[in-house]
Amino acid sequence: SNLAILASGSGSNFQAISEVIKKSHHNVSCLICDRKSAFVMERAKKLGIKVFYVTYYNRDKSEAEKEIDSILNSQKVDLVALAGFMRILSPLFTNKWKNRVINIHPSLLPKYPGSHGIEDSFNSGDIELGVTIHYVDQGMDTGPIIYQESFTRCDGETLESAEEKIHRLEHRVYPQILIKKLDNFNKAI
Ligand code: GRF
Repeated sequence: SNLAILASGSGSNFQAISEVIKKSHHNVSCLICDRKSAFVMERAKKLGIKVFYVTYYNRDKSEAEKEIDSILNSQKVDLVALAGFMRILSPLFTNKWKNRVINIHPSLLPKYPGSHGIEDSFNSGDIELGVTIHYVDQGMDTGPIIYQESFTRCDGETLESAEEKIHRLEHRVYPQILIKKLDNFNKAI
């Protein structure tokens, strides 16, 4: 099956997913990126993955989303993975792609949604830290949870050490969950 990845930033998850998918019988069809200077674009070029830049500037969100939708259709995409994509998708888009858009978030949702998931989790003092993989709906980091994995904060844990553990955890679990979903998708067809 064909996966598209939407990202806005560094793209370490994009890289981890792409490397694992390349060795599977599935395919990363393309990267769609909304930020011209995002490092994820360099990663995609190095990996030989097609890049589509979709701007959100000076136009309605619905126009940008129409463009994303037509790219997904033209690339015959089955499943979409958000990997640090820093935009909320509108109901029109999420309803059309219902159960076909997945996101990863660096906290144990429903705790600490938003763009500071790691800092907010760390500063809360919670003993358990972790990541959540979920279907995307119109909300911010809402939508049905597919998978969570946590670890226990260690003595002397710092924000930096927690961040590193969370990213390593993301890079391990996100590709595996996406492959499972892509497998299921094949069966359904
Ligand atoms: C990750 O922490 C992910 O959970 C969050 O955004 C971050 C993206 O990092 N949604 P990267 O661009 O994949 O390195």
